[in-house]
Amino acid sequence: MQPINMSVLISGGGTNLEALLTAIKEEELPVRVVQVISNKAEAYGLVRAQRHGIPCRVLSGKADASEMLEWLQELNTDLVVLAGYLKNVPDEVLKAYENSIINIHPSLIPAFAGPGWYGMRVHEGVWKRGVKITGATVHFVNDEMDGGPIILQEALRLEDDDGPAEIQKKVLKLEHRLLPRAVAIFAAGRIKVCHGRTIITNEGDHQ
Ligand code: GRF
Repeated sequence: MQPINMSVLISGGGTNLEALLTAIKEEELPVRVVQVISNKAEAYGLVRAQRHGIPCRVLSGKADASEMLEWLQELNTDLVVLAGYLKNVPDEVLKAYENSIINIHPSLIPAFAGPGWYGMRVHEGVWKRGVKITGATVHFVNDEMDGGPIILQEALRLEDDDGPAEIQKKVLKLEHRLLPRAVAIFAAGRIKVCHGRTIITNEGDHQ
């Protein structure tokens, strides 16, 4: 199988990035992580990337759109993964990479998703509402926040005494399995998008 070139965008700790790098290595996924791009110079995910010998870049903040597009195209990026990237992706990039940018969201979209729902706020919302089941969602990114076609979703049951921190811990563990699975399915050319929905096929196109 021909390997794909993947660029990962982060803003923070990068545990999902770490999970991706581990899965790519251990499961021998046909994926080359060509660079990690952060909008924050102090993001700990950059340290993780450097430990794995992956080139890192920090967006200047002034010309994110042109910089980002140039960096993605320069390294022949096939897939962009938002692994805890907390800014909107510029329109130019969305257009150039339609159905080739994926994001992980720490809830079962459409619950606790959309504008204002990010990070710990999601888990606090889940806890306040007293829901019994939450989960994680991997989806394509379009111009609607958390609104792109859903690729994979998995649910998990909560205990009655789980607080927001416990919920976050459980969901993060799930994310670390789900995101690499979605990347593997993409790399195998198994995702088709039809009328805003994804269809996961058994046979790949990239073989
Ligand atoms: C994750 O919960 C992810 O779903 C959300 O941001 C968090 C990033 O965590 N988009 P990490 O930086 O990968 O540890």
